[in-house]
Amino acid sequence: MQNVKVGLVGAGTIGMRHIQAIDALKEISLVAIADPSLTVEGLVTKRAIPLYKEAQTMFEAGNLDAVIVAAPTNHHYDIVMNALNHHLTVLVEKPITATIEEARKVTSFAYKQKCQVLVGHQRRYYPCTKTAKDIIHSGRIGTLMAMTGQWTVRKDSQYYEPHWRRQVEAGPILTNLIHEIDLLRFICGDIVMVSAEITNHDQQFSKEDAVAIIMKFANNAIGSFVLSDRTPTPWNWEMALGENAKFPKSEQNAIRFMGTKGSLEFPNLVLWSHSNADGNWQDEIFPEEIETPFVDAYVAQCRHLCSVVRGTQRPIIGAENGTKSLEVTLAVIRAANEGTRVIIDRY
Ligand SMILES: NC(=O)c1ccc[n+]([C@@H]2O[C@H](COP(=O)([O-])OP(=O)(O)OC[C@H]3O[C@@H](n4cnc5c(N)ncnc54)[C@H](O)[C@@H]3O)[C@@H](O)[C@H]2O)c1
Repeated sequence: MQNVKVGLVGAGTIGMRHIQAIDALKEISLVAIADPSLTVEGLVTKRAIPLYKEAQTMFEAGNLDAVIVAAPTNHHYDIVMNALNHHLTVLVEKPITATIEEARKVTSFAYKQKCQVLVGHQRRYYPCTKTAKDIIHSGRIGTLMAMTGQWTVRKDSQYYEPHWRRQVEAGPILTNLIHEIDLLRFICGDIVMVSAEITNHDQQFSKEDAVAIIMKFANNAIGSFVLSDRTPTPWNWEMALGENAKFPKSEQNAIRFMGTKGSLEFPNLVLWSHSNADGNWQDEIFPEEIETPFVDAYVAQCRHLCSVVRGTQRPIIGAENGTKSLEVTLAVIRAANEGTRVIIDRY
């Protein structure tokens, strides 16, 4: 099997997580890093791989099959376009780019170059996510009518020390809600309309403290979602699943999908239904726990990157799909600011 040679652009918080994933697999090797920060020098010396100050120089040096882009979001566009110019397979962290216009240019340039772009929405790689999608699409809970969910945490005060983290561009909608939106799009199908209310009456920074969203899916199901970075609760994806060792596990489910024949708690799957097919509110309703294995989603994503490089798989989430998740997320901000329902373009 061909060993995949990958370069990393941006060896910060999430870049280091990608390095762990690469190291866990025999089929892929980290062969170079591009990062202007001096703090990365120790890392490359230990590994005996070249360090470049700029991605462009790393691409020009050649010897790469793929690149993982984990630099700050405002650099994604230039780096990804450059990588595509060098005919590389690209895994770019979420969001794909800072703007929709940039994301669309990436999508069409990747098509022109016949290159694949994967977007780092790692939640798609968890077995519980795929199982939830399969349950809903198989009709086990009947016709999907509605969903409700939340992502509510209280972030630590040091988090907001850098001034940029107090701005809308780094607020919880663009940082955290985009994961929820991508997850819901994957499980339920496309979102075609959003409306929203935001408030910042706790910290009073320009970023939002909480947002409440109403949405409509292409299959006519409706949904609501509440997100806040100011509220201590056990009801959020990371704590429910224990995805990240930094955040204690609560095992409390944060999302519920409701169909005409039953309902599904997520991500620790519990399927609720009556024992008879036409059961109703006068009948007892029973829970069925559905076990799925816990995996390291970054390793699964990295393994998938290798398959995409070899041409044996197409991206689970490519550029066009990643653009759509960004588009819906940005539509939430617009809907709240303008006090309107925003219809999501089909293109
Ligand atoms: N998938 C997830 O759950 C997840 C989680 C966190 C961050 N992210 C995304 O990952 C990206 C990076 O976030 P982070 O928290 O790791 O940031 P970070 O600040 O911790 O790290 C960024 C790194 O990029 C380097 N860098 C800056 N400009 C660069 C350039 N032009 N070329 C190469 N390297 C450059 C910095 O020196 C730093 O080492 C963002 O797009 C963010 O949205 C995704």
